[in-house]
Amino acid sequence: MEKNFKRTLVTCALPYANGPIHIGHLAGVYVPADIYVRFLRLKGKEVLYICGSDEHGVPITIQARKRGCSPQEVVDEFHHIIDESFKGFGINFDIYGRTSSEVHAKNASEFFRKLYDEGKFISRESEQYFDPVANTFLADRYIVGTCPKCGAEGAYGDQCEKCGSTLSPEELINPKSKLSGAEPVKKKTTHWYLPLQDYESWLRQWILEGHKEWRSNVYGQVKSWLDGGLQPRAVTRDLDWGVPVPVEGAEGKVLYVWFDAPIGYISNTQELLPDTWEQWWKSEDTKLVHFIGKDNIVFHCIVFPSMLKAYGDGYILPENVPANEFLNLEGDKISTSKGWAVWANEYLEDFPGQQDVLRYVLTANAPETKDNDFSWKDFQARNNSELVAIFGNFVNRAVVLTHKYFGGKVPARGEMNDMDRETFAQIPLLKESMDRNIENYRFRDALKDAMSMARVGNKYISDTEPWKVAKTDMERTGTILNICLQLCADLAVAFEPFTPFAAARLREMLHSPLDWNLLGSTDILEEGHCLSEAKLLFSKIEDEQIQKQLDRLERLRQERIQREKEEDAKKVEPQKEEVSFEDFEAMDIRTATVLEAVKVPKTDKLLKLTIDTGLDTRTIVSGIAEYYSPEEMLGKQICILANLAPRTIKGIESKGMILMARQPDGKMRFITPAEVLANGARIG
Ligand code: 2FM
Ligand code: ZN
Repeated sequence: MEKNFKRTLVTCALPYANGPIHIGHLAGVYVPADIYVRFLRLKGKEVLYICGSDEHGVPITIQARKRGCSPQEVVDEFHHIIDESFKGFGINFDIYGRTSSEVHAKNASEFFRKLYDEGKFISRESEQYFDPVANTFLADRYIVGTCPKCGAEGAYGDQCEKCGSTLSPEELINPKSKLSGAEPVKKKTTHWYLPLQDYESWLRQWILEGHKEWRSNVYGQVKSWLDGGLQPRAVTRDLDWGVPVPVEGAEGKVLYVWFDAPIGYISNTQELLPDTWEQWWKSEDTKLVHFIGKDNIVFHCIVFPSMLKAYGDGYILPENVPANEFLNLEGDKISTSKGWAVWANEYLEDFPGQQDVLRYVLTANAPETKDNDFSWKDFQARNNSELVAIFGNFVNRAVVLTHKYFGGKVPARGEMNDMDRETFAQIPLLKESMDRNIENYRFRDALKDAMSMARVGNKYISDTEPWKVAKTDMERTGTILNICLQLCADLAVAFEPFTPFAAARLREMLHSPLDWNLLGSTDILEEGHCLSEAKLLFSKIEDEQIQKQLDRLERLRQERIQREKEEDAKKVEPQKEEVSFEDFEAMDIRTATVLEAVKVPKTDKLLKLTIDTGLDTRTIVSGIAEYYSPEEMLGKQICILANLAPRTIKGIESKGMILMARQPDGKMRFITPAEVLANGARIG
């Protein structure tokens, strides 16, 4: 049995202020959270909705360095861009704060200090990479080198972006500091750690025993972390951007971004409600819900709760942590660094007034239980054949016909037949299902319920055909349209959490109330109630608009292919194992000239070459036809391994092998002396 809470505190993961937000962020965290909050408010619940920018951490310092500006300038720019994007999509937090604020610095600092004073941390000395030229410790992202797994240059100290391997800086071949290019050296440093293992059995009890209802992806990840055994986790870093560690002797150290960021939820609440914030964070009557993406699960289910537990003082724990999986774009992983994304701010410019469409599509296709894909064609189809053709079309027909036959006033409803009653009867059932689904964080299913209400209306108006009935029976026409208008008023409530702009437009058109309790009742709009002019709720998205987006992505894809080719071209195969001088000496490499060249019949790749080796005239069968025509080989001087044991290929005896060099793109070229030599000259 769920506890009866008095209020709900909803937090959304604080996005890093080092770039704009994209559809992956919206689908994973912010649209579902917004549906939840709007829904609770619709039901008259007391809700506080907290978010803000996460403005610390290494990625921000890297971005600043790339642009040649300060980290503060980076976060100032993106904080505003992100804030505007949220507002543009109707995601109106009670506060969108920032972790570079003074309130937060003080709060995070005091949080650390209390744990420090109470001996809740352990300190440890370890060796970490240091840049002797820039005179600073290096975060893993600041160390680059050759990937030991795939040989790509420019792999980071924590990950190779080429092959996706997780790395440690020690594994990199030829590690270099990104700051100065110097080779990093190991240097001792002291950091503070939260001994997570001390909280393990408590976490097991709280989550594994107490919250079996959490989404299986969240529960499963927590279980595997706990089963794997928890380790002490460093909560400080050697970095010059962040909240300074408030301890003597910790100069040049800041709080680890994942220590300070979740405290940001509390700081932002304090900033908004300096006098009453504790009511939200320290009362058993508050239901705390964290909306996050799957990469944040460990921090919100293990690290932050352990921090709060260590702190004590009545802090509550989350009642649920609905984390979504990832959204891909046109079949490929969204990547900020590669630009492979649909940016929220660009969408708002390209599709003005169509915020609801993206909200709708991202919910209908939400990555709730598994990774999902966003495609522009699906986006267009869902708009044109669902929002426009079902929801919009139904409302439009009902309102236009009411104006046409009844001067824009809700007509009287006469005797209802079975079909009328059955139509009405479906709405409370769908309402109940939508309610249950949202309360259980199943937003996709909840949207299906709302859409089913629109389908009920659209089917009813199509089946009853009031435009035909009007020719003979105005009273019955009135009854049909009255029913249709009550259904429209239902939709104006049911769609408020999902497509709030369209729902508001609809309520303006109908002058109907936003009241969850009325949804499903048969008399929301009284007879004689005046409607405004009919306006289209949704408009068709044309092929050209979609093509423009697809063209942009195609350009990005081509650029990426080109970049990868260039990177490949720089790639050198790793050296083979050592051989002895005797092994080398055993190979008899000679110059030779091609006398004849013909294709080996019924093969694509083989040429039969007759060559003058100075020693003899012999035949070599070579896989060279992939790269050279017989004419190109004729008369060329080549190098051969002369004493390779003969082999029979396609019935021809081949004596020796032509020396070829493999290019980075896989193509082979034969080796020829810099000047023409006598055939049979020994190479070595
Ligand atoms: O993954 C991220 O984008 C982080 N900036 C989320 C932080 S959530 C919270 F802890 F602040
Ligand atoms: Zn690699």
